[in-house]
Amino acid sequence: MKKASNLKMIAISTGGGDAPGLNAVIRAVVLSALNRGCKCVGIREGYNGLLKPQAYSDGGLIELTRETVNGITHLGGTILGTTNRANPLKYPVKGDDGQIREVDRSDELLQLFQAHGIDALIAVGGDGSLFIANVLSQKGLRVVGVPKTIDNDLDKTVITFGFDTAISFATACIDRLHSTAQSHRRTIVVEVMGRYAGWIALDVGVSGTADAILIPEIPYDLQKVAQKIAQCERQGQKYAIVVVAEGAKPKGGERSVLEKEVGRAERLGGIGERVARELHALTGKDTRTVVLGHLLRGGTPTTFDRLISLRFGAAAVRALEDGQSGVMVALDPPRVQYVPLKDATRRMKTVPLDSDTILTARDLGISFGD
Ligand code: F6P
Repeated sequence: MKKASNLKMIAISTGGGDAPGLNAVIRAVVLSALNRGCKCVGIREGYNGLLKPQAYSDGGLIELTRETVNGITHLGGTILGTTNRANPLKYPVKGDDGQIREVDRSDELLQLFQAHGIDALIAVGGDGSLFIANVLSQKGLRVVGVPKTIDNDLDKTVITFGFDTAISFATACIDRLHSTAQSHRRTIVVEVMGRYAGWIALDVGVSGTADAILIPEIPYDLQKVAQKIAQCERQGQKYAIVVVAEGAKPKGGERSVLEKEVGRAERLGGIGERVARELHALTGKDTRTVVLGHLLRGGTPTTFDRLISLRFGAAAVRALEDGQSGVMVALDPPRVQYVPLKDATRRMKTVPLDSDTILTARDLGISFGD
């Protein structure tokens, strides 16, 4: 086994929303590093373990040993904790007037890495966390990113870990909704996460036999969905399943935002209820809403997610060993390869309108409300 090219200590941070597979990445990083004679430390809750150490009884930085990562591959969540409220480039700080301001603490963070003898960082996260990782790398830190998000909206990788577990669970939920919708002749609207991309809604809508799928990439007209429901009725199917991405919006309208706070992304939600209300008015049919929400983020990772998480973690250590920095590991089947972090975070990966899954859905008669 090679030495991890003059690396003595690697830090791992998990940032943003949790996703099944985070612990598998941590295990792969730790074992791959230890097997090369390199130590590993975990930073609590994004970078808070370094920026706010007084908040943690263990000082915010924990040594990751073989024992620490024993038996964690199958566990959801992250043993390090995570946050989407502590971006070091826009760190929320309360002023004397009680107002929250955003302060750039990245230089201080770099000094903290140095002070703790950390040679390199493996940053596991979505677009926000990897954008931060790229800035830290441009400022001189050795960084490799690992793409995580149930939303699958990161560019330059075919898939992010967490997505497969989320869609598998959501599809199982929709399977269960068919019988109750059918028994009551109802329309059931299922709202799923995904932020501004429709990957989750599209995949679970097609796999779960939805009648309509509403995604951010295709602004909808509910008259069209009502027509689809009427067609189902005429064809003898007296119920309907409509899958709505939380970021979907009507033609000429706005997406449904629950709240916007300083220092964090806007929180989406409420579109399912809105669609259900309007569909009830248009069709007269009894309509119910199910919001799957954070259920999609929990649970044990699927075999697929475990495997790519382990592959990503090990590949991240190999990248550092080879002297790479400022890159993200990415799945380019059958290989895991490295792409510049700046390319991966330049734009969000949304569903292409000519994607095979959209064409398949249309061929099956599924409505997109367009
Ligand atoms: O990015 C993952 C995600 O679960 C999105 O799908 C969702 O919009 C958001 O995070 C929810 O964030 P929070 O956990 O802050 O409610």
